Amino acid sequence: KSIVILISGRGSNMTALLDAVASGELPLRVAAVISNRADAGGLAVAAAAGVPTCVLEHRGFASRADFDAALAERIDAFAPDLVVLAGFLRILGDDFVNHFAGRLLNIHPSLLPAFPGLDTHRRALAEGVRVHGCTVHFVTPALDHGPIIVQAAVPVVDGDDEDSLAARVLAAEHRVYPLAVRWWAEGRLHLESGRVRVDSSP
Ligand code: GRF
Repeated sequence: KSIVILISGRGSNMTALLDAVASGELPLRVAAVISNRADAGGLAVAAAAGVPTCVLEHRGFASRADFDAALAERIDAFAPDLVVLAGFLRILGDDFVNHFAGRLLNIHPSLLPAFPGLDTHRRALAEGVRVHGCTVHFVTPALDHGPIIVQAAVPVVDGDDEDSLAARVLAAEHRVYPLAVRWWAEGRLHLESGRVRVDSSP
């Protein structure tokens, strides 16, 4: 099986996935890493790991729909079984999401359904929550509301600021994203009427 990973920035979640592939923990091939920004730091990391990379800048397109269509075409050229969003900071339209229905994953830096959208760590601190975390989910047209695959919780501690909390959550992201993708690669992940079932290890 193969996956395509979409990034926009430093790509630390992408790196966690590539590392898991390299160590044999994640039995699949990364067909390509695609970024919507030419300056995404993760591109160099992917290239150094021998993974094909490409850039598709959204700026060059007249509309969101045009960009989405071009992106879908670019992804389809690699014929991946799964598309993994890893810090991809563009909202994808319904046509795109429906085209990849059931084979599009995202990681979000909060315990959904709390704090969908942006600035999750700042909002978590503002609300005074004592537990925060991250969520891996299937992507559906409703932003950050797709079926949940796995979550990891981290404590919020006294004196935390956005950076310290983000770093703690990010470490958890790097654990659970490879885990969720491994469940998928092992055929253990099932979507049934909008809910996820994970079969136990064979
Ligand atoms: C992560 O916190 C991810 O959850 C969010 O954006 C950040 C991306 O970081 N969507 P990276 O590019 O994977 O390092």
